[in-house]
Amino acid sequence: MRKITLPHIAEKHRKGERIAMVTAYDSTMASIVDEAGIDMILVGDSLGMVIQGHDTTIPVKLDEVIYHTSCVARGTKSALVMADLPFMSYQASRTQAMLAGGRALKEGMADAVKIEGGLEMAETVRMMTSAGIPVMAHIGLKPQSIRVMGTYKIHGKSLDDAKKLLEEAKAFEEAGAFSLLLEGVAVETATEITNSVSIPTVGISSGPGCSGQVLVIYDLLGFNPSFNPKFLKVYANGRGFIADAVKDYISEVKSGEFPSEQHSFHRK
Ligand code: KIV
Repeated sequence: MRKITLPHIAEKHRKGERIAMVTAYDSTMASIVDEAGIDMILVGDSLGMVIQGHDTTIPVKLDEVIYHTSCVARGTKSALVMADLPFMSYQASRTQAMLAGGRALKEGMADAVKIEGGLEMAETVRMMTSAGIPVMAHIGLKPQSIRVMGTYKIHGKSLDDAKKLLEEAKAFEEAGAFSLLLEGVAVETATEITNSVSIPTVGISSGPGCSGQVLVIYDLLGFNPSFNPKFLKVYANGRGFIADAVKDYISEVKSGEFPSEQHSFHRK
């Protein structure tokens, strides 16, 4: 299994191969998705919701992302591992962003980082990239701005908004971002952005016109059937699969069927 690097991602994109990315937060899940052949693993700040049980990504701390990234990196042989810099770990200053990105690479063993933002973050991306920190820029619906937006909605529906997103995409490309994450962007706008930049776009809730796709692994696996937004395709009944196995285990423990002779050790 070869280690996927930034040039490999660029090469796949050049050849027209779509990029598949999922999130993961621990070593076991990382090794499963890695062996399945995923291109990139995002240690998303979605861990605030799916791991920590918060309602938003706002409470997630940089130390937590670094910890989970190091777990994922240890379980990954091939995929490119990306750490999602959390709210207020990079927005306060360019120096703060450089230090956060540096920690993600040095302590988290990430291959790249992701940051959310608009035109105001372009210079930050330029500085990070020239310092050796590869950056994916996240535009469109930016969950870290939920307190300003008030609600999660689709972006780039109007021509003005589409123009703004296109400007942001081009500014990030020019600043050296190695790819863009388009979240919650109207299909036509996401497709136009993808066709207007040379770097790959990875979409979530942004339609089929992107260069690749990302989903939160627990959503894809059906761990939370009550979360069923239109953009999501659920590929397994993960919750039912785990619940059935645990129910079997409970019943065998109660009945004494487990552990059997097969699972037991004897005195000499
Ligand atoms: O944190 C996250 O999981 C994300 C999604 C867009 C995949 O950023």
